[in-house]
Amino acid sequence: MSVLVTNLGELTTNDPELGTLTDAAIVLDGDRVAWVGHARKVPATDTRVDAGGRAGLPGWVDSHTHLVFAGDRTAEFGARMAGQPYTAGGIAVTVEATRAADDDQLRAGLRAHVAEAVAQGTTCIETKTGYGLTVEDEVRSARIAAELVDEVTYLGAHLVPPGADADEYVALASGEMLDEVAPYVRWADVFCETGAFDEAQSRQVLRAAAARGLGLRVHGNQLGPGPGVRLAVELNAASVDHCTHLTESDVDALAGSTTVATLLPACDLSTRQPLPPARRLLDAGATIALATNCNPGSSYTSSMAFCVATAVLQMRLSVPEAIRAATLGGAQALRRPDVGVLRPGTRADLHLLDAPSATHLAYRPGVPLTWAVWHSGSPARPPRE
Ligand code: NIG
Repeated sequence: MSVLVTNLGELTTNDPELGTLTDAAIVLDGDRVAWVGHARKVPATDTRVDAGGRAGLPGWVDSHTHLVFAGDRTAEFGARMAGQPYTAGGIAVTVEATRAADDDQLRAGLRAHVAEAVAQGTTCIETKTGYGLTVEDEVRSARIAAELVDEVTYLGAHLVPPGADADEYVALASGEMLDEVAPYVRWADVFCETGAFDEAQSRQVLRAAAARGLGLRVHGNQLGPGPGVRLAVELNAASVDHCTHLTESDVDALAGSTTVATLLPACDLSTRQPLPPARRLLDAGATIALATNCNPGSSYTSSMAFCVATAVLQMRLSVPEAIRAATLGGAQALRRPDVGVLRPGTRADLHLLDAPSATHLAYRPGVPLTWAVWHSGSPARPPRE
């Protein structure tokens, strides 16, 4: 079944040759993009949608979330807004609730959060384990995640569980736990931060994961300067996420690497951290991604549009730079050439806005602009009347 979406006032493709088109059209055939071009030269298709001059862009690629969880941390958030600092220790509250939930509860929660994201234009989602922290709970988190999202990351090294010995836990997370979870995941990640895992512990887990064929990601430089970025670049991680507190040498290391700096501005706002130095990173030549970090503790939003608006209004990115980071940048952070770009052969993930241009994402911050979403060619959110 092929569908022509035509009369697009603007179409952001992220393809270097196609660029951003005006008066454009696109054909989705099955789960792939079949054709992109001018609305006056469209091929024949089975069905046709008139976009009425609205703007289209690739679906958001949210390359950093933590959606396999149970419980609620509203009180912690309220206390933080009243002046308490954010610390890694809050993770343990969600670990306790997650362990107490059954599989159906975890699955239902994940499904609801994914549906919430898709309704806002997100069509490729990564999520992590990391609220189980026992072999059994990490495996079931990974198994449930693999049922419902595109990319799954093992984050057994999220926190040393309360009461556990750190060395013994690192041995478990880089040994038996990793072996059991590996069949369900493509990636491994470590929270390399004061209060979580130090450089040596992080390196041990990451090296063990690489030896088992997993791709690497790192949570680094979130709450203060640290070794996370350096370690990620040294180990050729696909992405180092947060990057809130960077030295000049961190920026230079990222600029000279293929490791994507994934920025999570909703998290920085929600934890009262400074916003990451996106401008410095781009100007130095680094590749950046924007992601929500949706989780119940440090960033409880699934809104990529909020991240884009924040990146433009407060982090000094241009609108095209922010949109690219939230689509193509996320795809690069996940090493996925098939998403984040609209050209013949890529996945048919299309997001239409109820606005004549994508600039409205920052021009009208906070306004729900998603008008229609196709996910792998299927209408995940049909056009609104
Ligand atoms: O990316 N930094 C570590 N992990 C999450 C926080 C999880 C939590 O507080 O529950 C993050 O911010």
